[in-house]
Amino acid sequence: MAKLTIAIDGPAGSGKSSVARRVAALLGYLYLDSGAMYRALALKALRRDIALDSESALEDLAGGTHIELQAPTAQQEAAGAKNCVFLDGADVTQEIRTSEVAQAASRLATIAGVREVLVAEQQRAGAGGGVVMEGRDIGTVVFPRAELKIFLDASPEVRAERRWKEHQEKGEQFTLSEVLEEVRVRDKRDSERKVSPLVRAEDAVLVDNTAMDVEETARVIVMLAQEREKELTKAAGREA
Ligand code: CDP
Ligand code: CDP
Repeated sequence: MAKLTIAIDGPAGSGKSSVARRVAALLGYLYLDSGAMYRALALKALRRDIALDSESALEDLAGGTHIELQAPTAQQEAAGAKNCVFLDGADVTQEIRTSEVAQAASRLATIAGVREVLVAEQQRAGAGGGVVMEGRDIGTVVFPRAELKIFLDASPEVRAERRWKEHQEKGEQFTLSEVLEEVRVRDKRDSERKVSPLVRAEDAVLVDNTAMDVEETARVIVMLAQEREKELTKAAGREA
């Protein structure tokens, strides 16, 4: 059966990581979280006190940084990790999951030179196909020829509530309205930036999972993927 490249884009808390991870597991594909790369670079910038509007310093930082995504072990997965993230060889899987890092990531993600470096890495990582990559510009910029593109969405209130619950589980004391504000600020910056903004690709299927859980959403996407796999396998047979 033909192996697809599946691009899943959408705003914060729409379920991209959880759903993409599950889709990849059901199809036997590789799962890649592009946002984790922006977060890892942001963590490095914060640790070095680099101003988040300093374009040239951040471009240099991106060029001199090695970020790697790895599939988690069963134990790491049970602890909630979907991709393990290594920053210059050090495991930063947990450290990148804070609101501060998320906001910093969305600021440095507005810089064209930073995006160029990370997009090239993402293209290399997903080059073999049989991959589910999620982010903001996967269907528009990273893999514009992906055989299946999904734009995942949910209402801002539901997305914020999902994130708030995650903070609660980690013992972090944010109010729901603080989390809603954080999500709104980031979505606005991500959608309005000049370079590779968050937009639905023309050929992306819109999946609104406001009222669906992760499993239901993943199964809808797997059904679409299996249809595409069949179509491509048939087309390849006709060409042979
Ligand atoms: O990656 P993204 O920010 O788009 O979302 P996520 O990290 O996959 O999902 C945020 C939280 O919402 C996770 O705790 C998911 O389990 C949960 N979620 C949910 O309850 N129902 C969905 N349909 C999708 C995600
Ligand atoms: O998990 P969540 O949806 O909250 O965010 P993420 O996917 O980890 O991404 C963090 C930030 O990185 C986003 O707010 C975007 O600014 C940026 N990002 C991007 O610009 N392009 C991508 N392909 C992925 C993430």
